[in-house]
Amino acid sequence: MQIITEPRQMQAIAEKLRLNRQFIGVVMTMGALHEGHLSLIKLARQSAGTIILTIFVNPSQFGIDEDLHQYPRPFEQDVALATAAEVDYLFAPVAGTIYPENYQTTLQCGALGERFEGERRPGHFNGVATVVTKLLHITKPHRAIFGEKDAQQLAIIRRLVEDLNLDVDIVSAPIIREENGLAVSSRNIYLSSQERNAASILYQGICHAQKCIAEQNKNLPAIAAEIEQMIRSTPGCRPDYVAFVDEEQFEPAETVEAGKEYRLLIAAYAGSVRLIDNGKICA
Ligand code: PAF
Repeated sequence: MQIITEPRQMQAIAEKLRLNRQFIGVVMTMGALHEGHLSLIKLARQSAGTIILTIFVNPSQFGIDEDLHQYPRPFEQDVALATAAEVDYLFAPVAGTIYPENYQTTLQCGALGERFEGERRPGHFNGVATVVTKLLHITKPHRAIFGEKDAQQLAIIRRLVEDLNLDVDIVSAPIIREENGLAVSSRNIYLSSQERNAASILYQGICHAQKCIAEQNKNLPAIAAEIEQMIRSTPGCRPDYVAFVDEEQFEPAETVEAGKEYRLLIAAYAGSVRLIDNGKICA
């Protein structure tokens, strides 16, 4: 595996790979690699001849009171995991090469970026959209793999690719869960073992919703209220939001209509750790 830090060098390599008819798959991460990231690399490997992994803790997607400086950066461990996963190129730039001193241009996501996570984390999705677009231009992939764990991010990236006519195929990968159902995330390392157990309530909420809908209960706000109550009555946990949205537009949904797909979004705290999770709802 080759480690590249300079955007221009990564672009030159990607260009050469394309000229040599290599199918490039990219997996973008902020490092602190875990099972979830490794599953994205595995999925990329199924179709791509060359895998580029990016590791960049993107400052523009963190709010001023968020964990940018505490965000885990176990680089040596990430290199070992990426090597074992047979990544071909690891692109790990320093912030100054992605956002040089005179940097001014950013992307605005619009309404989709202002709901749910976007409302709680103003500017977050503009930062994500900007860096994802830059990383796509730097790594020139045919295909980019993103996890369903960040469902709103995935919807925004799909929207951005369509709106800006970007020539890349976006593929989603299912959420990887721990044994108790907790979705695997880099921020899980902040959880104590007690909080980790309690945090399984988010997954239990998703299962509850799936069961209600299978039993023809279509009152989505009522189901969301029940899940909020489940979270509230779990010691150490409190809900932030629980909402059903339609899969296509990510608009809040009140009921289930035949032929449409929905997603349940949950954000909740276990202790002081904010967690997000989601599940597809099949009518
Ligand atoms: O999902 C993430 O890890 C980040 O938001 C991404 C897509 C790598 C952009 O910084």
